[in-house]
Amino acid sequence: MSAVFAQTEWTTPPDPPEFAAQSEPVFVSGSDIQEYKALPEYHEPDFVKAFVDAGKLPPVAERLPKEPLVFKTPNMPDGMGVYGDTMRHVIGGRPDGWNYIGGATQGWGGIDIGMYECLTRTGPLFQVKADELEPLPNLAKSWEWSEDGHELTMHLIEGAKWSDGEPFGADDVMFYWEDNVLDTNVAPTGGATPESFGEGTTLEKIDDATVKWTFKQAKPTQFLYAMAYGTFCPGPAHILKPQHPKYSENNYDQYKNAFPPEFLNFPVMGAWVPVEYRPDDVIVLRRNPYYWKVDENGNQLPYLNEVSYRLSTWADRDVQTIAGTADFSNLEQPENFVESLRRAAEETAPARLQFGARTIGYTLYPNLSGNGWGEPNELSQAVRELNRNIDFRKAITYAIDRKSLGESLVKGPFTTPYPGGLYAGTSFYDKDSTAFFGYDMDKAKEYLAKAGLEDTDGNGVVNFPSGTAGGQDVQITMLVNADYTTDKSLAEGVLAQMEALGIRVILDTVSGNSLAEYQQGGKYDWAILRNGSDLVSVVQGTAGLAPVGPRTAFSHRAGTDGTLDLMPFEQEMVDTVNKFIASADNAERADLMKTYQQIYTQNLYAIGLTQYPGALLINKRFANIPAGAPIFQFNWAEDNVIRERLYVPADKQTTNELHPNTLPNTPGVGNGPISN
Ligand code: GLA
Repeated sequence: MSAVFAQTEWTTPPDPPEFAAQSEPVFVSGSDIQEYKALPEYHEPDFVKAFVDAGKLPPVAERLPKEPLVFKTPNMPDGMGVYGDTMRHVIGGRPDGWNYIGGATQGWGGIDIGMYECLTRTGPLFQVKADELEPLPNLAKSWEWSEDGHELTMHLIEGAKWSDGEPFGADDVMFYWEDNVLDTNVAPTGGATPESFGEGTTLEKIDDATVKWTFKQAKPTQFLYAMAYGTFCPGPAHILKPQHPKYSENNYDQYKNAFPPEFLNFPVMGAWVPVEYRPDDVIVLRRNPYYWKVDENGNQLPYLNEVSYRLSTWADRDVQTIAGTADFSNLEQPENFVESLRRAAEETAPARLQFGARTIGYTLYPNLSGNGWGEPNELSQAVRELNRNIDFRKAITYAIDRKSLGESLVKGPFTTPYPGGLYAGTSFYDKDSTAFFGYDMDKAKEYLAKAGLEDTDGNGVVNFPSGTAGGQDVQITMLVNADYTTDKSLAEGVLAQMEALGIRVILDTVSGNSLAEYQQGGKYDWAILRNGSDLVSVVQGTAGLAPVGPRTAFSHRAGTDGTLDLMPFEQEMVDTVNKFIASADNAERADLMKTYQQIYTQNLYAIGLTQYPGALLINKRFANIPAGAPIFQFNWAEDNVIRERLYVPADKQTTNELHPNTLPNTPGVGNGPISN
């Protein structure tokens, strides 16, 4: 393997400080969690029944699919629940609208996870036995592979309805695929592209409740993960299709923004429907009367009548949850760890706090396209050439003092230097396959000179060679998410360390909503980003691990002519990832990921910074929180904890619901939340 060098200058990474996760999952089979079946009778909250009695809503049995998804009682930590109460969230994001599949974001923090359901589901897999790992059925209730493994037939839940009572079916799935994924003018939130499901993959409708996939590869079970949250959550075709440019006068931007946050009661398949929006204040979502999941007694879920989202900051999410004025937070910004731990240790603390594994990590991504992705100007193009030079990338990595970067966020056993690639402590990680370039300013400077950079005008910043970009100062624009304190602290740390090396970094700090546009559009020289689940689980988002397609990778996409100018080591990464996707042999897959890690870290495909654990903070009144639920693994905690199954025991219920006794738009009652 030519891209894997003989050991010369790196070491294996230092061992992370001892920091045990505070609770372990009870491992089960997927079929222990849920099944699909008709039950003899169904129930609903009294206030919903009152709508039925008043003739404003069909009876519950008619609102449910033929075979609802049934959550099994033994897998519920506290058993079947009772109806009532609300879960109060706080977020730092802002919604740009409800058309998730058209590219509008909802503000994160699990709003979308509560609204949109996907063909399969991965969040709860943290509790599934490793040797039985496979995405859980969701909108697709079952599937079978053809003999030769090239065809996958999926059976959708039958007779299920959107929250406005319109039927859900294969047409919704096909609209998502044909007009939102295959039409690459649309950039669905979550980043699905045709290649997310394999080059040349097709999907067809068989009947209203059946679709069939055809893959070039034989039995690529990997793509079942791409059918989960993020990449295959169909939207309501009955209201989206008339707005799509193919069927209307709209352009793509108008399509994306056709359902602004002010548009209430957007039809969803998820447990809660948005019924109130006040800019910079709040989003309230009420229970979906057509939700298609039940408990074993036939109680229609969710147990919680409402979820709300205060539009504030991510840091405020921690503060409020610790104080008890909010109910849920992924404690992920180390700046808040110490104070949160102190308060959570007190007997009177309103929230429980549980640390998990080190699955939050940040990477510095040099934009590796040399052929025009993002249409760089002359200076940026010169930076791209540097980014593609291994000596330059070595200079950067040697100049980064990861220990002090981590300690600038929080002191103590939390952060650990992160070389890049797969995280220490995750299942495919192999320390011996990981190259770590320890902090060494002398070597950094040596490599900078080797890359041809020298401070010719004595101003402390190195210059391009005279023939390049007019010999001007090397100045790099670094994309940073403005919504998080941690992202900004890390960016400032890197900026200072680069200054010491003689490289000028300018921060381009943009809001979380614009970030995807800049990043996916290639409009950056470097980007500092919190990593996705591909580097944690490997089996999720696998196609994103390397530039396997024109639009799959984070930091290297096709240039203006549609081609990918891969460097040889990237081609080897691509081959390795493709083999991984095509292989069903666990030993071979483990080996392939070792190779992947070697190529990534030795060639500095991207430059790791720091990794650390996060903690799940949930108000103590909630029941059914699964043991060992991580804040981030296959998905975020908002999916992992199975919110539709959470409940508040009767003696702990509050009067915190903002719109008690209301339901989203009910046929015949008009638009807007309705009161009994
Ligand atoms: C944001 C938050 C995460 C999580 C996700 C869910 O990214 O930072 O903690 O809540 O939203 O989408």
